[in-house]
Amino acid sequence: MIAPTRIVALTGAGISADSGVSTFRDRDGVWSKYDWREVATAEGFAANPALVHAFYNARRAGVAAARPNAAHEALARLEAQFSNRLTLVTQNVDDLHERAGSRRVIHMHGELQKARCTACLSVHPWPHDLAVETPCPACGRDRVLRPDVVWFGEFPMFMDEIAAAISQADLFVAIGTSGSVYPAAGFVAEASAQGIPTIELNLEPSENAFAFANARYGRASEIVPLWVDEILGKAR
Ligand code: APR
Repeated sequence: MIAPTRIVALTGAGISADSGVSTFRDRDGVWSKYDWREVATAEGFAANPALVHAFYNARRAGVAAARPNAAHEALARLEAQFSNRLTLVTQNVDDLHERAGSRRVIHMHGELQKARCTACLSVHPWPHDLAVETPCPACGRDRVLRPDVVWFGEFPMFMDEIAAAISQADLFVAIGTSGSVYPAAGFVAEASAQGIPTIELNLEPSENAFAFANARYGRASEIVPLWVDEILGKAR
């Protein structure tokens, strides 16, 4: 394989699994404990905002107690070498990529550590708990703040930027994602259609494994550092 010069990397919950952060669809994953309709939709939030805040407060606290693992650190090393020739897109709302040293992370499903006001649309860094009566720091209203994450049925963020990065890439890699949620699960097809080499690094074949030209299976904290070392070796 020739040395890639522009890489798009897509990560999912599997990259944070080795940090002790639950994935969604594995056995005893998040969606085996919570009904996504109640805690990850605008309708669920309207019906019971206190339940949704409790769900995200627990996840925010869980992530704060976790530490980045070798896979997050390997992607930070890759960025240090590739700079803006690596586009790191994550479906994850945790900040483990940033805490591992990645500076440019596209959070297409938003971020746990941010709150958004549904009244004035301001967005605020939010590392602590959110409650129904928490007032918006900008407009002062209460009962208007929500986690700045993308819920089912809402539009993912930065789609134009992601499409542009894929169109200029010469390698697309997906790491730790089940390939079951679109549009992220469709990025590999976009890359393939443009003749871009693709590879998935996952614990087991994802739902769209068929769409990848290459694949390696194992725990992200083991296989991602090895893959990054290979890429950096080629890039030297
Ligand atoms: N190393 C690598 N991969 C792993 C590991 C691990 N240690 N543990 C689990 N995996 C893999 C699983 O095999 C699975 O393919 O990670 C993937 C996790 O899949 P999901 O739980 O579906 O998570 P993800 O693909 O990120 O979900 C996408 O769905 O619920 C929404 O918004 C949520 O962003 C999320 C989106």
